[in-house]
Formats: sequence, structure tokens, C-alpha cells
Amino acid sequence: MLRIFKTASPEALEEIAEEMRLRKTRHFLLLFSMGSQFDHLIVQKLARLGVFAVVADPSTITADDVKKAAPSGIILSGGPASVYNEPPPFDNAIFDLGIPTLGVCLGFQMWAKHVGAPVTPHEKREFGVHTFTQRGNDPLFAGIPEKSQVLETHGDAIEESAALTNLGSTDNAPVAAGRHKHLWGVQFHPEVSDTEEGTRMYENFVVHICGIEERFPSESVSAQKIAELKKEIAGKKVLIALSGGSDSSVVAYLLKEAHRGTEGKIKGVYIRGIDRPDDEAYVKKYFGSEDWIELEIADATDRFLKALAGKSAMRDKRLAMRGVYTEVLEERIKAWGADFVAQGTLYTDLRESGLGHATGARVAEIKVHHNTGITFSVPEIAPLADQVKDTGRALGREIGVPEDLLIRHPFPGPGLVVRIEGEVNEETLRVARAADGIYIEELRAANLYNTVWQAGATLTHSMHTESKGDGAGLGRVLALWAVWSVNGFTARAAELPHDFLEKVARRITNEVREVGAVVYRISDKPPATIEWG
Ligand code: XMP
Repeated sequence: MLRIFKTASPEALEEIAEEMRLRKTRHFLLLFSMGSQFDHLIVQKLARLGVFAVVADPSTITADDVKKAAPSGIILSGGPASVYNEPPPFDNAIFDLGIPTLGVCLGFQMWAKHVGAPVTPHEKREFGVHTFTQRGNDPLFAGIPEKSQVLETHGDAIEESAALTNLGSTDNAPVAAGRHKHLWGVQFHPEVSDTEEGTRMYENFVVHICGIEERFPSESVSAQKIAELKKEIAGKKVLIALSGGSDSSVVAYLLKEAHRGTEGKIKGVYIRGIDRPDDEAYVKKYFGSEDWIELEIADATDRFLKALAGKSAMRDKRLAMRGVYTEVLEERIKAWGADFVAQGTLYTDLRESGLGHATGARVAEIKVHHNTGITFSVPEIAPLADQVKDTGRALGREIGVPEDLLIRHPFPGPGLVVRIEGEVNEETLRVARAADGIYIEELRAANLYNTVWQAGATLTHSMHTESKGDGAGLGRVLALWAVWSVNGFTARAAELPHDFLEKVARRITNEVREVGAVVYRISDKPPATIEWG
């Protein structure tokens, strides 16, 4: 199947035509991926609406290519570039073809500049959830209340001008949505769950603006994935890195289904060393005595400590962690004679590491995830690489992964490494592990664990004066955080009851000698990320 549309070659056009025949539709949308963290969510939204979308490379596709392909509509995603000081690669003649186009954030700014509307750096950057007030009765907002919540993440603003019709604003964006003839644009992200009416906006664009009537139901994703895996790994030996969390557990169960009725073997490896208090127990409980998977616990504590010694920059620590992780898995691959290695890598991991849809648009590297950018001596399988957290969990539910594993909070592969500022050593690991243990234990005891998407404790580098007993001294500042989210692409700081936080803080400062004070982080994502490092 065609993955990225880079030029209108006869082969590429035939592949699009073939897909349309399969889906019994005359329509498709062209999605120019401008490098946004969220562009994959657009693909998923459109897939759920039953619309075939082809991801196009803005650095290679010309207006001529678009004319040949003849899509029913065009979407331009957001991205890290800025239209006035580093315009992204794009053939602006595409805007003059008369094809209905929706520009999201950067995509909106690109066409606005092209039609002569001023785009300026704004004094107030807009990150987070804002109230959008729509104006007029544009079909893009049909059936949507006058005011609704939207997620914005941009520094540039589009000014009011005669070049476009203003379709609505937020407190900091005078033109949060606009239209010029066949070009529509929004400064916010309708693809993220924080934008309440986002699905309706895409549906309006697809149905009312692009006139796409035939939509096709999406097939059962798990059945399709199992069938694809079956073809690839039938009868083979697959080694899987298990963490006790939902993603790798879902992959293990997909492998189990793909191997059903064959001679294939699955071996799970759990790597000990920088993990949190209860991870190993979960892996042992659910995979330790199953007949379809053999479990090995690999203790890499000393190797992690050696690789991390003397390193304090988060990126260096992430790379050191990734090095040991790769080595340990590679040794197990060789010793067992594995044919494949499997990981629970999600689309979020790839995207934040600067990977994802391989177009020529610049993509920001936010952090190096532990499971990306590495190679093994055998082919790698990552069946969840096109999924995000919530869709991965839904897939797990379809194939019987125990709910207890699925509802565990997500946690980073690099474990406590990203939750310790400064050097990771035996002592800082012990302190971070103890604090995390208390926090999670109390969240469960207060029945709050399932009310938040993820929670963690970060051992910061800041020192706080303390007055414990008679002696005065300095103790580390420990930061607690918890977020509400759907898929980890965006998150809101969770409001936890004050008396609960007080109880946790008291326990931590009493029971963990090195901690002098406890704080609670209240930033959303964006602008912050969920993990500290
Ligand atoms: P951030 O901190 O980037 O995290 O907002 C989004 C989600 O991803 C998790 N995370 C990771 N997961 N390997 C992983 O498997 C990693 O290197 C990694 N870094 C962050 C994070 O816990 C959150 O749920």
C-alpha cells in the first residue's frame, strides 16, 4: 500500500486508484504532513470517519502532481516551521487550484500569507485549551455551539484583514478560524481530544465542503494486524521486550494470536535496573507461568549504573539507557537464536523522537525515546507503531489482554532515568523509587489511581532548606505530577485533592530522608511534556 505520496508517477496514481476501488469510493483526501506532533491523529480521525487519506510530502509534491491525482480535498497539518522566518517547503500554486483545503495551524498561516493576510509573531503565545467563539454560519462549524473548547499551540498569529473572512476567535487569537474562497483554516487543532468539537469539524469539512458521500467502515484493526503478523512470523521465534505496561503486553498477545496453531515460539525479556517498584511483579504475574510465552528476567542494574555514571544531561542519560537496553536485548536475541525482535513502540514514541511520517517537512525532536532509532541483528516487529495509547489499549481489549495490565498508567521505557534530574546512581534511584512507590500506593488507596491518566514523581536537582528535628540542612525537592489525557499527545494537569497531596508529601518527607520538600506540577502539555525529562 502507498504510504507517502511523493510524486504523481503512474505507479503512485495506480496505487491510489487501487485503494479507492478496494474501498468502493470515488474520493480521497490529500494530507500534507507539515511535521506536526498531531498529524497522525488527523489520519486516525479521518480513518474513523471512513475517509481514505493519502499522506503527501510537501517538499516534493507540486501543483501539477496534485492536479493529476485530483483529490476531493486537501488538508495541511501544523508543524514546527514559521511562515515568515523559515517557511516550510511547499508549492503555493497548490492553493490556487480551487480544491477545498483545510489548513491547521501552520497550514492556515501558509495559505493566509499566500492570499495576503498578515501573519505576525504574537506577544502572547497560545498554548493549551482556549474558548473558541465562532462567527457567521460557515459550513465548517455546522451543528457546533457558538462557544467550544479548542487546543491551540502556536506562536504566530493571523491578523484581521480584507484578504479573508474571520470565522471566529479565542482570547489571544483574533482570527482563530478563517476562510478565503475554497480555503479554510483554523489556528487550533481539531484532531486532538481537547478540541471538543474536533471530530464534527473534520466531518463537516469532509461531507459538507469536500462532498465526500461514500465513506467506508474501518475493519477490525486487531484482526488485520494478526493476519499481517501471521504472514510475517509464522512458525518463527520472536523475542519481545516486556515492561509490565500495556503496550508491550498488547504486542505479546498479538504475537500469541499470530502464533496460534503454529510451531512459533515467544520469549519475553524483562530488563531490571531502572524500573519502578511494581513493574517486575506485574510481568511475573501475567507472563511468568503461561504456556505460550517463556519469561526471562535480565538483571542489568550494574550495566545501567556504569553507563549512566557521570552523566547529567537528560539526552545523554536517555542515550546511555538506550545503549544498555539494546545490548541486553541483542545478547538475548543471539543466545536464544531469535528470528525477530518485537517492541511495544507507539506512534507517539516515534513522533517525539523526530520520526513518524517520513516527509521532507522538518519535524522537531522532543526527546529520544528508548525504543526508537536502534537496530538489531534480526528484523524488528512493532505492530503498534501506527497506534497511540488509547487505540493500543482498545486493540488489547479486543484480543483479551487482562484489564489490569491495560489500565496501568503508561510509564516511560527509560523508567526512572527520566524522573531523576542530574546523575542517576544507586542513591538517586533508591530515592526516586521510594517516592514513586509511596505516591502510587496512596493514589490507589484513595481510589484516585484510575481517575488520572498518568502520575509520577520526579527527583529534581533543587535543594530545599529543611528543618527536620534539631538539625538544619538541605534536602532535595521532589516534584509530584499527574495528568488527564486520552493518548499522551496532549495532557492537562490533574486536579488532585489538597488533603491527598498533603498526606503524600508528609509521608515522603518522613519516610525518604533525602527529600526536603515536595511540590506539585500544574503545567499542561503543551507547553510542558508529561515526563520531566
Ligand atoms: P512526554 O513526556 O513526551 O510523554 O509528554 C508522552 C508519553 O510517553 C511516555 N514516554 C516514553 N515512553 N519510551 C517510552 O516508551 C520513552 O523514551 C518515553 N518517554 C516518554 C511518557 O511516560 C508519557 O506517557
